[in-house]
Amino acid sequence: MLAQRPPMGWNSWNTFGKNINEKLIMEIADALVEKGYKDAGYEYVVIDDCWSLKHRDENGRLVADPEKFPHGMKYLADYIHSKGLKFGMYSCSGTFTCALYPGSYNHEFEDAQTFADWGVDFLKYDFCYFPQEGECASRAYTKMSMALKATGRDILFSACNWGQENCHNWMRSRGVHMYRSTGDIFDNYVSFRDIAKSQIDKLSMSAQGCYNDADMLIVGMYGKGNVGDGSGFGGCTDDEYMSHFAMWCMMGSPLMIGGDIRSMNEFSENLLKNKGLIAINQDEEARPPYLIRDEHSRYVYLKHLSDREFAIGCFSDSEEKTTAHIMANDMQLPDTSGYCVELEDAMTGEKLGTFRDYYEVEFPPHGCRVFKARIVKR
Ligand code: GLA
Repeated sequence: MLAQRPPMGWNSWNTFGKNINEKLIMEIADALVEKGYKDAGYEYVVIDDCWSLKHRDENGRLVADPEKFPHGMKYLADYIHSKGLKFGMYSCSGTFTCALYPGSYNHEFEDAQTFADWGVDFLKYDFCYFPQEGECASRAYTKMSMALKATGRDILFSACNWGQENCHNWMRSRGVHMYRSTGDIFDNYVSFRDIAKSQIDKLSMSAQGCYNDADMLIVGMYGKGNVGDGSGFGGCTDDEYMSHFAMWCMMGSPLMIGGDIRSMNEFSENLLKNKGLIAINQDEEARPPYLIRDEHSRYVYLKHLSDREFAIGCFSDSEEKTTAHIMANDMQLPDTSGYCVELEDAMTGEKLGTFRDYYEVEFPPHGCRVFKARIVKR
């Protein structure tokens, strides 16, 4: 089964934009293995936009840019597979990709076959230059879903139509495995905060086989991205990157690293490999979180996990150092229940004891704390 858990991997777009080539992708595959990302669960290496020539060949097939990818895509797929990783590529449901390379509109079946012939395991499918008259997104994504199935190869289908036509209502039914339902993430606090806020009430369709994708991770980019004006859109503090990663884990979003894992600093590398947070993201029950407290820019979310556990994520939107309270009552564990809550810091594994009424949480500006919890008899 594909996408039994939220897919995890790396994508070229956020940091490299059009500056992609064979050497880079091979070095990324090496780094995924050598630096322990693969062991942490990251398996897909995805080449985003700008990989092809601007024109199809005489048989109407997409052609990899021979300057960027001198040995072709099959060679790269073989290399990535030899590392025990999976290979992802990108196309678009419109006539062109967002960066104006050929799109797959009216070429769905032949392009799916090309990807299958190259050994592709994952296809990100974008929505730029989609015909505005007489077409609809659900038909286009269904068509590519069928085209991928028709190849006979298992190819994870990663749709990216930015939430058009309320896509959270229909993507799952069309055979898609993950779908972007927002515009692009940028490397700053406001961008990821707003994406998270906009998706919380739309995560109930996320479950095994198909997940709402809150977009690639910006962890560790520190303003070094190549997208947009080249400034990377500002960058984040370490506490902000932690909140971003923790929130994506709480939401059960796919975890696609967008930074340069060849040169991540220690903080970012450890964060991206944090076992406790990844376990929350990959929990087999794949339940969405829900908000149990919203008070003066501090938010407390609860996400049910398997084995009678649950996660509690506390996030601060405040620019000051602040505190918040996790209230037993908010979890429907009133004083009369006879139970209390046992807490463990999800990131460090530290046992924090039990609480009966409330637990006070301290935050740095834009910070977070995430706990694993269970109910115990008093
Ligand atoms: C769109 C997508 C991005 C990226 C670019 C590539 O903006 O949403 O994730 O794939 O196109 O051009």
